[in-house]
Amino acid sequence: MDIIAVESLSKHYGDKKAVDDVGFTVSKGEVFGFLGPNGAGKTTTIKVLTTLVRPTSGNVRVLGHDLRKEAKQIRNKIGVVQQQESYDQNISVEGGLDLYGFLWDVPKQKRAERVEILLKQFGLYEARKTPSLDLSIGQRRRLQVAREFMHDMDLLFLDEPTVGLDSLARRATLDFLKEKVKNGLTIFFTTHILEEAEYLCNRIAVINNGKIVTTDTPQNLKRKFGQSKSVDFKLLEGTSPELVKLIERIDDVNKIVQDVSDGAYHVTTAKPEVVIPMLYQLAARLNLHITSIYIAEPTLEDAFISILQEDKS
Ligand SMILES: Nc1ncnc2c1ncn2[C@@H]1O[C@H](COP(=O)(O)OP(=O)(O)O)[C@@H](O)[C@H]1O
Ligand SMILES: [Mg+2]
Repeated sequence: MDIIAVESLSKHYGDKKAVDDVGFTVSKGEVFGFLGPNGAGKTTTIKVLTTLVRPTSGNVRVLGHDLRKEAKQIRNKIGVVQQQESYDQNISVEGGLDLYGFLWDVPKQKRAERVEILLKQFGLYEARKTPSLDLSIGQRRRLQVAREFMHDMDLLFLDEPTVGLDSLARRATLDFLKEKVKNGLTIFFTTHILEEAEYLCNRIAVINNGKIVTTDTPQNLKRKFGQSKSVDFKLLEGTSPELVKLIERIDDVNKIVQDVSDGAYHVTTAKPEVVIPMLYQLAARLNLHITSIYIAEPTLEDAFISILQEDKS
């Protein structure tokens, strides 16, 4: 059985097609990522799947339950970390965690154990007596994610859970989630950060303007859309518009850009072995000196950008 099965799902707000005829399935133990820019329709999809918002049309089954007819059964078995903040402002961190467990009918002893573990795992131990109101943005976000693990669930929805976290806290959060997945949890996860999707997800749906542009594994996305490589080189002379003009004329070169931060040129090409000798020849002809050169692998960022660009055209 699919943990999530979505067919032709749409959600319109007036004329705005926030979600426009999307379909996908998620299997048990998978981390399924929704990757897309702001306004793509990620939050709307999560709101529909978690029964907070009614779909305009489409068939959705979550954990075997029909979304329209069995919303309550679904709600009892899922966890949700929403994009916007939601927690009790005046209660201490540990009090808030305990209260959340209480609302989910978790027995007292179990709550106490979980609070201890989560405070440590999410770096909130020092702040356990602090009212949520006085926490930093990062601490609040960590609390919001931690809180969801006070109760058991079969499926967890996370809407951009790492926004506002520094890189260490981000990594710690993702690693915590990975551990839970090993123990059987299924996760639906949204992000606009590629590295994050790549680090955590088994499969990624790229969403743009309410539509799923493609769904695949991170590895396949890279392979399919990141075939060209980047030849990165620097000139002793720094900059040469003349050389750039010559390089642009090479057939196998897709584009050349200069990185403003370090002055390196990035040449996009599917044939670095052809382009590199030509770069040396052209530089020599202009009496320029290449001081460093290397071939960079395509990143998921490249894949993502080329998918969105294809979508535009
Ligand atoms: N309640 C609403 N009323 C009208 N438009 C909305 C509403 N919620 C979202 N939208 C619009 O739907 C689109 C998708 O929004 P959203 O799902 O929040 O995107 P994301 O989470 O990917 O940033 C956006 O254009 C947004 O402005
Ligand atoms: Mg959103």
